[in-house]
Amino acid sequence: MKRRSLLQMTPGAVLGLSACSLKDSAVAPLSTAPVTPPQSVKIPANTQYRPPAYANQGLRNPDVNLPSNFSGSAITYSRGSSAYKNVAMTFDDGPHPTNTPRLLDMLRKRNIRATFYVIGGNVDRYPHIARRIVAEGHEIGNHTYTHRKLTSLSDSEVRKEMRRTEDAIIRATGVKPRTMRPPYGALLQRQRSAVYSEFGYPTIMWSVDPQDWKRPGPSVVTSRILAGAGNGAIILAHDLHAPTVTAMPGTFDGLLSRGYQFITVSQLLAQKG
Ligand code: NI
Repeated sequence: MKRRSLLQMTPGAVLGLSACSLKDSAVAPLSTAPVTPPQSVKIPANTQYRPPAYANQGLRNPDVNLPSNFSGSAITYSRGSSAYKNVAMTFDDGPHPTNTPRLLDMLRKRNIRATFYVIGGNVDRYPHIARRIVAEGHEIGNHTYTHRKLTSLSDSEVRKEMRRTEDAIIRATGVKPRTMRPPYGALLQRQRSAVYSEFGYPTIMWSVDPQDWKRPGPSVVTSRILAGAGNGAIILAHDLHAPTVTAMPGTFDGLLSRGYQFITVSQLLAQKG
């Protein structure tokens, strides 16, 4: 999510905009064949990550033991159940070589699990950071390989973006992503259905957008998230941007002090029943 024209719109506006295009695509539609389970993958043994030791001081997310099986889900989500005081933090466009490790330290210190919508090209560039994301209990999701606007791509190009990224994530982490987020929030309804059928990914939008990619300053990012958060919120942020990461200790502690519990997107979807 970083292109000005789209990010100034609400998710709803993006949906409206995405009603156009792909008309000229002469490519066969995405298949509706059942999702194939991933092959088990061996992670190279020479790249073990050892997290730093922390004294667990200050605010701490409670230990969460919630199911993350959301089978039978809808095709698109922008929030979870409002019945529980849970939120899901999501971080897009990484992994980034310095910002993502700094963010992971902050999360670990507070026992918070987040969801990372990674770009496949970055996963191939920094596979050790993708491995650390998964090793520390976070969820990893598909944010395409090249971060192009999918509404202007053919079905075969969309499939390639999804497949290359899924392959990169599995190669790096041994884990298959379970959800996707389209760059700029742009994905046609027809494409969402096809991606869900072929890859098993529901499309994950958001309910809180602090517009952090415009770099308004860490304190503004924090206050926007605290103002927008509510039960079941899916919060959009970008670990690509250093000021966003700088905003996170205040954001995390602010939400914890208000009684919110952090869970992953899959856990949030599973709560929908
Ligand atoms: Ni993005």
